[in-house]
Amino acid sequence: MAIVERVFSGVQPTGNLHLGNYLGAIVNFVKLQETHNCIYCVVDLHAITQGIDVWGGPAQLARNTREVTAAFIASGIDPKKHIVFNQSQVTGHTELTWIFNCVARVGWLNRMTQFKEKAGKDRENASVGLYDYPVLMAADILLYRATHVPVGEDQKQHLELSRDIAQKFNNDFGDSIRRHGFNEGLFFPQPEPLITGPATRVMSLRDGTKKMSKSDPSDYSRINLTDDADTIAQKIRKAKTDPEPLPSEEKGLEARPEADNLVGIFAALSARSKADVLGEFGGGQFSSFKNSLVELCVTKLSPVASEMKRLVADPGYVDGVLVDGADRARAIADETMELTRDIVGFIRKH
Ligand code: TRP
Repeated sequence: MAIVERVFSGVQPTGNLHLGNYLGAIVNFVKLQETHNCIYCVVDLHAITQGIDVWGGPAQLARNTREVTAAFIASGIDPKKHIVFNQSQVTGHTELTWIFNCVARVGWLNRMTQFKEKAGKDRENASVGLYDYPVLMAADILLYRATHVPVGEDQKQHLELSRDIAQKFNNDFGDSIRRHGFNEGLFFPQPEPLITGPATRVMSLRDGTKKMSKSDPSDYSRINLTDDADTIAQKIRKAKTDPEPLPSEEKGLEARPEADNLVGIFAALSARSKADVLGEFGGGQFSSFKNSLVELCVTKLSPVASEMKRLVADPGYVDGVLVDGADRARAIADETMELTRDIVGFIRKH
C-alpha cells in the first residue's frame, strides 16, 4: 500500500452554510477534483461536540447533513468520481480516534486555541468530545492516509497536531511498521494543509475584522448559500464601508478591512486578482462597485441555491449519495484499520 496523493476535507453540518464556507472551502474542493483523488466528508461526529442546543438535535442534524451534501453537489463536486459521505457511517473514524488518543499527549491538546475559544469560560462544563475534537480530525485524515488537506487558516493548528500524531505513531510503532513491510518506517503520511485563494478568509459584512460566521446574531453579517437575489442585494447594499473611494492599488486596502473584504469577495467570485478588480473599480464610489458585486453574487450563487433547493427536496437521492460514498470510503478505511490493528498488536481473525 503505497502513499498516494489524496485530498481529504470535512465540513461540519451545524447549519447555515454561507459565502465564507463557499469561497473558503467548497470552491477549493471543486477545483482539487481536477488534480487529486478527493474525499469530502460531512463531519457529523464533530458536529455533536458542542451542546445539543448548538447542533440542534436529531432532526436538525439530519437536515444539516443533507444540506451540506446538497451544497457540495450543487457547487460542482462529483460524488461519482470522488467520495462524498457522512463520517458516522464509517466506524474507522472513531476506532482510529481511540488509538490516537493513546498517542496524543494531554499537553498537546491543552495548547489548542479553538478548544479554548469554544469552551469559553466554563471549561469544566465542555464535553470531553470537544476537547478530543482535534484527535478525531487527525483520525479523519489519516484513516485515508490523506496527504493534502484544504482547510481555512483557523484549522492550521489542528493540522499540525495531525502531523505530530502521525509522526509519534510512526516512531512509537516503528519496528512493527517495518515488520509490516513499510521499510522506511512511514505508515501514516504527514498531511499538508492547502490554504489558497484570495478570499480564504471572508469577513463579516458588518465588521471587516471579524470572520463571517453562522453564529453572528445579525443575519446581515453574512450571505447564506440559500439567500434569494433580493436578500443578497439588500445585504450587500447595507454592508459596512468607509467614506473613501476605492483605492486603485492593493496597498490602499491596508487598514480598510471592509473595503478589503468586499474586493476580496469580488475577486474570488470572479476568479480575478484583487489588483485586477481595483484596476476596474479603483477611484470609484462604493455604491457602483456594490451594484456590480450584487450582480456577480446573484449570478454565481443563485444557480447553487436553486440546485441545493432541488436536492434538499429529494432526501432519498442525497442519502443514496452518502451511503454509496460511505461504502467506497469504508473500503479504504478498512484497509488502514486492519493494518493499524496488526501494527499495534491487536489480535484479530485473519
Ligand atoms: N474542523 C474542521 C472545521 O471546522 C472540519 C473538519 C473535521 C476537517 N475533520 C476534518 C477539516 C478533516 C479537514 C480535515 O473546519
